[in-house]
Amino acid sequence: MKSIRIHGFNTPAVINEVSVPSIEADQVLVRVMASALNPLDIGLMAGWAARFFPIEFPYAIGCDFAGVVERVGDAVTTFKPGNAVVAWADPLTGGGLSEYSAVPAKSCVLLPSSLTPIEGAAIPTAGSTAWHGLFSEGHIKPGETVLVHAASGGVGIFAVQFAKKAGARVLATTSGAGIDLVRSLGADEVVDYKKQDFAQVFRDVDLVLDLVGGETQSRSYPVLKRGGRLVSTTSPPDVAVASAHGVSATMMYVKPYASRLDEVVRAVAQDGFKVVLDTSVPFEAFNDAIERQRSGRARGKIIITQS
Ligand SMILES: NC(=O)c1ccc[n+]([C@@H]2O[C@H](COP(=O)([O-])OP(=O)(O)OC[C@H]3O[C@@H](n4cnc5c(N)ncnc54)[C@H](OP(=O)(O)O)[C@@H]3O)[C@@H](O)[C@H]2O)c1
Repeated sequence: MKSIRIHGFNTPAVINEVSVPSIEADQVLVRVMASALNPLDIGLMAGWAARFFPIEFPYAIGCDFAGVVERVGDAVTTFKPGNAVVAWADPLTGGGLSEYSAVPAKSCVLLPSSLTPIEGAAIPTAGSTAWHGLFSEGHIKPGETVLVHAASGGVGIFAVQFAKKAGARVLATTSGAGIDLVRSLGADEVVDYKKQDFAQVFRDVDLVLDLVGGETQSRSYPVLKRGGRLVSTTSPPDVAVASAHGVSATMMYVKPYASRLDEVVRAVAQDGFKVVLDTSVPFEAFNDAIERQRSGRARGKIIITQS
């Protein structure tokens, strides 16, 4: 089978011909139909994510995918061959950008019939991060004001929609064509961060979902109400600075096992949330997808499909 792999940090990804993986008793073998990239894949390729995920080479890229169950291990009772599933491969093992991928059954959920494999593949990391950032970590409540930074990215497009549906007033930062996009997804007020300082515009925010980090994070504290919360997916907040502003700040890390992924996939299927695609390319054009993810300019998710 074909598998997209790297043989070292900062080396080009290549298609290798390898054996179809064998499965452990608790695993399922999935024939992959669509895979999504994330910034983490770029970090794993470049080496900056190695301190969190000490990968070994050759490394098969890809954590988020959807496809059809081909075989199940002896101990698996939750899936059977033919089931369409959404899956998340642990970044340490990867393998989502391959014709077949072996993953623990606890990392898969059924793909609802109303979603395509492309839509399903887009959800695990980005959808779960948005969901758990707002709900489990951010404790969003109806009527609150939420600021989503990088609202046009893979996580942001879900976060804007989830926050709006949760009854929040949604503020957002992005630029260019991202502005109309995030408005169309429900953002009430949008700042073009390349033209305006959001910290001069937004006030009395209850929750900041920080998908950018750095200066964007430090300039977010003054826009929060006293008692407000900041949740970052990118850089650990300075707790002393946060507390000097009378707010709380946490760093979140999502591992979208089925127990966390299930409600997100069901919500996307049932509540009419849009899966926004920046790019969708066939398997052979994987390098275009990687370059687009590496640019940091994606507006929505970047998908690689297989027939
Ligand atoms: N901790 C975790 O578990 C976890 C999980 C998922 C993601 N993450 C992290 O969360 C971050 C977001 O992930 P993602 O998948 O959404 O990334 P992404 O899709 O690559 O985000 C791209 C978007 O970010 C926007 N953007 C870039 N710089 C910006 C700025 N200064 N202000 C406002 N918007 C800006 C871009 O808009 P323009 O083109 O207009 O600039 C683009 O639309 C990444 O750093 C990722 O590594 C962490």
